[in-house]
Amino acid sequence: MNALIWIVLPYACLAVFTAGHVWRWRHDQFGWTTHTSQLLENRLLRLGSPLFHLGAFGVIGGHAMGLLIPASWTAAVGVSEHTYHLVSVTGGTITGIMLVVGLALLIARRFVNGRIRRVTTTMDKILYAALAAMVVLGMSGTVVINLFGDGYDYRETIAVWFRGIFWFQPDPSLMSGAPLVFQLHAIGGFLFLALWPFTRLVHVWSAPLAYLWRPYVVYRGRRTPAPAPQPAPAAVRDTAQPTADADTHGQQAVTTRS
Ligand code: HEM
Repeated sequence: MNALIWIVLPYACLAVFTAGHVWRWRHDQFGWTTHTSQLLENRLLRLGSPLFHLGAFGVIGGHAMGLLIPASWTAAVGVSEHTYHLVSVTGGTITGIMLVVGLALLIARRFVNGRIRRVTTTMDKILYAALAAMVVLGMSGTVVINLFGDGYDYRETIAVWFRGIFWFQPDPSLMSGAPLVFQLHAIGGFLFLALWPFTRLVHVWSAPLAYLWRPYVVYRGRRTPAPAPQPAPAAVRDTAQPTADADTHGQQAVTTRS
């Protein structure tokens, strides 16, 4: 049973995550979008979306730090266990609260606004429920166990098991003694990855980051009043001389990002 949960399940979920993205790309490129509903409602979205996304970036950074960096590495550069614990619990609690508030606003918006409710698909509902479950379990581990409780050193167990998956040497015995909340959270994390390609979360891989480095778009602004209207085409045909080039009408190049 242990091997099934801590070895077979993670690999099965990673396989679905990979194959699911290939399938989605091949079959639903037009649906590969955020499915934004900003035009239908913007008041709650304006607050909820940045809170949710900033919180998520923080939580992802925290997971990368806690799960991918071995405790021996942070110790080798002089970071004591106490300092690490302080930073992870403080950062995790702050970014987790942002995520919770942002998610709550995004979910509330789907309930209170009729137009948003009508464009909410079954897959959206499953995604919001999965996110809420993951956030509740994660926050229970961070706040209840690690901030106010006795604390649990997941870097010696969960993190080692997690990295083992990617070295093809996962050790299920490392997970059997973990608190139930962390066990459920870890299982939920992999199930969440399996769900990912079938939801609007695929937009993460198409974030328009190139926008930050793309060349400026050149616009032309008028320096002088607009030229007099040109004669009608028939009259132009009858005249011998072509009109002046557009660039000589006193236009000035300006650059901007739009
Ligand atoms: C297999 C994948 C995952 C593992 C092994 C994992 C493990 C952990 C651990 C050990 C903590 C406690 C951190 C601490 O106390 O400092 C935590 C917290 C948390 N996790 Fe995960 N997690 C996984 C996936 C996810 C996913 C997919 C989400 C969200 C969709 C998520 C959301 C959270 C949140 C909100 C917290 C509380 C805030 C924080 O400490 O960062 N986790 N997770």
